[in-house]
Amino acid sequence: MAETIKVLVSEEDVNRRIGELGKKISEDYAGRQVHLICVLKGGVFFMCELAKRITIPVTMDFMSVSSYGDGTASSGVVKIAKDLDESLEGKDVLVVEDIVDSGRTLSYLLEILQKRGPKSMKLCTLLDKPERRVKPVEVQYCGFNIPDEFVVGYGLDYAQKYRNLPYIGVVEGVE
Ligand code: IMP
Ligand code: MG
Repeated sequence: MAETIKVLVSEEDVNRRIGELGKKISEDYAGRQVHLICVLKGGVFFMCELAKRITIPVTMDFMSVSSYGDGTASSGVVKIAKDLDESLEGKDVLVVEDIVDSGRTLSYLLEILQKRGPKSMKLCTLLDKPERRVKPVEVQYCGFNIPDEFVVGYGLDYAQKYRNLPYIGVVEGVE
């Protein structure tokens, strides 16, 4: 059976929700500057769209952490493939992620970043699968809570494919 994608969250709904998150973040951080940290590669589409909708001053940095192979199952192994360019000292840091699943990646990452002396640190994720949590992670901003299904699009991949879909979908027909 060929792989097909079933739409879970439409492009319109994703865009509307990112607008709401941008507005809320702009209000919550009013009078300050927010330092967005993108977790590559999945977080990049969401972070760019979110950044465009934030109306307070924004700076950005990128890092790459992985806990997944090419399949759909967590390996439990987390590695930093690319570290941040800038220090977090005294900054209001907002980590931007595509999805929180088991929470393994984020709990590890947030612990490392916290040691770098940010003034504050919060997490903004486009998607959350709370049922799948193994490690507790505090999520301050969340786009959508979704059921325990493997999703693609808006940065999320299945074996590196489908990141460019402008909506969130579920892959069907995978053997
Ligand atoms: P966690 O450590 O299990 O919370 O998830 C780490 C990473 O797994 C996420 O940042 C994603 O890159 C990937 N991931 C988890 N669930 C999905 C999914 O449904 N689709 C695509 N990637 C996923
Ligand atoms: Mg990710």
